[in-house]
Amino acid sequence: MTTVLGIFGDPVKHSKSPRMWNAAIEHLGLDARYLPFHVRRGTVGDALVGMRALGIRGVNVTLPHKEDVIPHLDVVDDAARSIGAVNTVRLEDGRLEGFNTDAPGLVRSLLEGHAKVRGASVLVLGAGGAARAAIVGVAQEGAARVHVAARRPEAAAALVADLGGALPCPLTASGFDDLEGAFEATELLVQATSATLDGSPHAQAFADSLPMGRLPAHATVTDLVYAPLETTVLRAARERGLRTVDGLGMLIHQGAIAFELFLGLPAPVDVMRKALAG
Ligand SMILES: NC(=O)c1ccc[n+]([C@@H]2O[C@H](COP(=O)([O-])OP(=O)(O)OC[C@H]3O[C@@H](n4cnc5c(N)ncnc54)[C@H](OP(=O)(O)O)[C@@H]3O)[C@@H](O)[C@H]2O)c1
Repeated sequence: MTTVLGIFGDPVKHSKSPRMWNAAIEHLGLDARYLPFHVRRGTVGDALVGMRALGIRGVNVTLPHKEDVIPHLDVVDDAARSIGAVNTVRLEDGRLEGFNTDAPGLVRSLLEGHAKVRGASVLVLGAGGAARAAIVGVAQEGAARVHVAARRPEAAAALVADLGGALPCPLTASGFDDLEGAFEATELLVQATSATLDGSPHAQAFADSLPMGRLPAHATVTDLVYAPLETTVLRAARERGLRTVDGLGMLIHQGAIAFELFLGLPAPVDVMRKALAG
C-alpha cells in the first residue's frame, strides 16, 4: 500500500517541501507520496484525528500549527518540548509522536559546513521561533555559551528566561545596542531574524548596522533565511573572508531527519538540495 506523507499548513501552496520530498521518494523508487494539506488555523486537532484514521504515516507541520499541535499528540520529544514547537508528526502503532527537526537540522547543516559548534561562543540575532530552535540546537550540541540579541531587548530576555533552565550552557540576552563586544567574542553568528528576507526593505540597512568587522577571522556566519540564498549578512561575511553557511542547509536537513523518522532510510540529501534549487 502506498505510504502517504505530507505537510499541514495555512497557507501551504507555497511550500517547497512536496517538491523536495517527492524527488527523494522517486530517486529511491519508494511506493510513497508526499502531499500538501491545507489545514486551516484552529483545525489541526481535526486533521490529526483524520491522520490517525487514514493511517497517514507522517506529516510536517508548518505555520500556524507548530505550537497548537502539541496537546493533540501522544508523545513529544525533548527538543520539541524545549522549543515549544513541533514540526514533524509520525504515526507509529496508532500513536502520534511529535518531533522538532529544525534544531538538529540546523546543527547538521552547520557541521556539514565545517562550522565549530561544540565549545563555541554563539551569538543569535532575533527572538522568534527560528531563534528559539537555533538556541536549543547549538546548546544541545555543546556550545559553550549563547548570547541572544533582538531589536526588542525584552523579547531576547523573555526567550532566555524561558529556555535558560532547560539547557546545558549559559544564555545571556541584550538589545542591538553595543554589539561590538558581543561580536568580538563570537565564533558562530546565527542570523535568525526575518530582516534579510527577499523583499524586506530593511535587508541592507540591517546588515550595515552589524559590526561584522569585529568578528574573529575564524568565525562562521549562518543566516536561517534561504530566500535569497546569499543574504545581505552572508554577503558581508563573505566579503570579510569568513566561513558562511546558507539557510537552505537547515531546510534540507530538517526534512532529511523527518525522512529518516518516517521511512527508516537515509535521505538522499543531494537529490533534495537539487530539487529545491530547481
Ligand atoms: N532555514 C530554515 O529551515 C528556516 C526555518 C525557520 C525559519 N527560517 C527563517 O527564519 C526567519 C525567522 O523566522 P521566525 O519563524 O523566527 O519568524 P518570527 O517568529 O516572526 O521572528 C522574526 C524575528 O525577526 C525579528 N525582526 C524582524 N524584522 C526585523 C528587523 N528589520 N530588524 C531586526 N529584527 C527584525 C523579529 O523581531 P520583532 O519580534 O521585534 O518583530 C523577531 O525577533 C524567517 O524569515 C524564515 O524564513 C528558516
